[in-house]
Order: sequence, then C-alpha cells, then structure tokens
Amino acid sequence: MNKVVLVTGANSGIGLALCERLLSQDTEGLQLCLACRNMRRAQAARSALLTSHPAAQVALLQMDTSSISSVITAAQEVKLRYNRLDYLYLNAGIMPNPQFDVEAFFKGLFSSNVITMFATGEGILQQKDCVNADGLREVFATNLFGHFLLAVAFSSVMAQIRELEPVLCHAGRTSQLIWTSSSNAHRSAFNLDDIQHQRGTQPYSSSKYASDLLSLALNTHFNKQGLYSSVICPGFVMTNLTFGILPSFPAFLWSLLMPVFWLIRLFTNTFTLTPYNGAEALFWLFKQKPELLDPQAKYHSLTSGLGNNYTQPRKMDIDLETSEALYERLLQLESEVREKLKEKQKESQHAHSPAGPGSS
Ligand SMILES: NC(=O)c1ccc[n+]([C@@H]2O[C@H](COP(=O)([O-])OP(=O)(O)OC[C@H]3O[C@@H](n4cnc5c(N)ncnc54)[C@H](OP(=O)(O)O)[C@@H]3O)[C@@H](O)[C@H]2O)c1
Repeated sequence: MNKVVLVTGANSGIGLALCERLLSQDTEGLQLCLACRNMRRAQAARSALLTSHPAAQVALLQMDTSSISSVITAAQEVKLRYNRLDYLYLNAGIMPNPQFDVEAFFKGLFSSNVITMFATGEGILQQKDCVNADGLREVFATNLFGHFLLAVAFSSVMAQIRELEPVLCHAGRTSQLIWTSSSNAHRSAFNLDDIQHQRGTQPYSSSKYASDLLSLALNTHFNKQGLYSSVICPGFVMTNLTFGILPSFPAFLWSLLMPVFWLIRLFTNTFTLTPYNGAEALFWLFKQKPELLDPQAKYHSLTSGLGNNYTQPRKMDIDLETSEALYERLLQLESEVREKLKEKQKESQHAHSPAGPGSS
C-alpha cells in the first residue's frame, strides 16, 4: 500500500528538495501531498516534480499554517482524501523582517563563541513580528501553532480523537511527525509565560525552541498509539528564508559569497548550503524506525568539507517538565481560539441570515 506523505511549505527550499529526494528514491510507492498557502507556487512545484518523475502521485492541499480556519479546513480535507497518513513533515516556516545585529556580530567575531555564532546565528538575528487576523503572533502561528493544530488536535475531553489523529494513529502501524527546527532554537529566547514571544525580539528562535519542546511532549502522549515525533535542523541553507536576512543584497553577491561559505564549511559541517543537503536529515528520518529514535535528540543535516552529507543526533537543551507545561498551554490556547472561531462564525451567519442585523 502506498505511503502517504504530507509536507507543509513544500513549494520551495528545503521542503521542495525533500519531495524531490523522496520521489527519486521511490516514485511509485508514495502519495505525496504538498500543503502550501500559495496555490500558484504549489502548482509550479508540482509541475517541476512531475517533470522529473512523470509517474509520481503528487497532490496539492491549500493550507496557510498561520490561519486557524485554514488549518482546520485542510485537516478535514486530509481526513476525507486519505485513509492513512504515514509522514507529516511540519516544515513551513518564516523569519519575517530579520535584522542583522552588526554590533553583536563584531562582538561575537572576536569572542570564543565565534563558531557557535556562525553555526547557529545565536545573538545576531532579530525579527519584527506582528499580530495576524486570528489575533496571534505571526511567527508563533506559522511556525508552531498551526502545525500543532494540524498534528495533535485533542479535545478537552481526554484522548478524544480530533483532526488528523484518527488518520495518523492506527493499530499496528507507526506514523511520524517531523519538525523542521533550527540550531537557532535557544532556551534563552523562550519564555513559558510568553509562548507567543510578544515581549521579545527573537520570535523565530522562540518558535523553534517551542517546536523542540512540543515534539518531546507529543512523544510522551502519543507513542503508545504509534505516533512518533522528531525534530531536525537543516543547517545553514541558501533559500528564500536566508535571502530574506539581507533583502537588499543582490543575488550575484550571494553567489560571490559561496566560496567563503565553502571555506567556512571546513570548520563547521552545519553549512549545508543547498536545499538538497539541508533536506538530508528529513530524508534520513523517512528511512528510520521511529521507535528507535531518541525523543530528546535533534537530528542535524551536516555536510563535510568534502561535500559529503550525513545525519547526526545531538542532545537538545530541553526538559520534560517544560515540554509538558508548553503542551498544556497550547491546548488551552487551542480551546480559546476554537471558541472565538465559533463565535465569529455565529456572528457572520447572523449577519447574513434574513433575520440578521437591520432586519427588525
Ligand atoms: N534556510 C535555513 O538556513 C534554515 C535553517 C534552519 C531552519 N530552517 C527552516 O526550514 C524550513 C523551510 O525553510 P526554507 O529555508 O526552505 O525557506 P523557504 O524556501 O522560504 O521555505 C519556506 C516554506 O514555508 C512556506 N510557508 C511560509 N509561511 C507559510 C504559511 N503561513 N502557510 C503555509 N506555508 C508557509 C513557504 O511558502 P511561500 O512560498 O508561500 O512563502 C515556503 O514553501 C523553515 O521552517 C525554516 O525555519 C531553515
């Protein structure tokens, strides 16, 4: 039976490279579903994949991970379309309005932290976040909360099955959730009392740290039902997301910088640079038995100075207590936003009904 693989943010960068790699390995045994917010770009990605793999089964699903209603609708659509879901790659992500902290960079350059700074971007990247139409912080909603809604979907009644859960967990089979996290996920950027990162300047780092924590909590709650969660770091990859760090930097200057990056790669194997290399750990996890994976490890895509790709687990700076607390807070937020959504829907029905406002 074909394995069903859903990838969010599949129309470019690491997500698209993963799809390409999966199809290169197995064109016929897969049902690939590209979950994207922009259907024009999604269609272009699908056409590119079908050009190199004409026999592949590649479907599209409209989903904006930052929008609660879009995620809920998409999750319902998945349930209707597929009777199983083997892999759910939670890969879509944004780092809006990134600002390069030049002062922190030069300080870091002459400190003992220089390799870590280059390898993880620690301390040198800040972002300007905003509030979205659902009243949530955009980075939190896109990178974490939408994916949380998609993957977990619990009700307040314990263990009552919602959204994707019935499709993901089924007797005798395992399913995998795989988060594209980052080495820029730092405990220092995360605050349990401010999970949306409303008060800080590093929402990206906070959201990625939260995904590391959440993955651990999901394992605690769902392993018994055959659902496993893992996190990866793709390394430093040249994609739209990284180009956005210096938006006024012309493309040809990035190309000129490539030899410098290759040189840096001699000192740090985290400079994977191409989406193909960056997708290494995502691809590697596809081939693993999830029961044998370490829930406290982040699986890193690495590329050696000679250009060889490999995956390496590294212990994450996370703990069960915080992961559980985050999980509880996300559940709480979920019930709040669902309640709000219901009220909104009622209001709009009322406004459009013949007996609505103005009809009396
Ligand atoms: N590049 C790196 O060095 C690096 C390092 C660490 C982690 N990562 C992570 O890798 C993942 C993939 O990023 P990338 O580097 O491949 O960058 P990318 O090419 O910009 O890909 C990001 C993908 O996410 C999609 N996306 C963004 N917001 C979305 C939303 N609200 N709903 C649905 N899809 C949305 C984008 O779709 P659109 O085309 O519509 O924008 C795009 O397909 C991200 O989670 C990122 O945080 C990247």
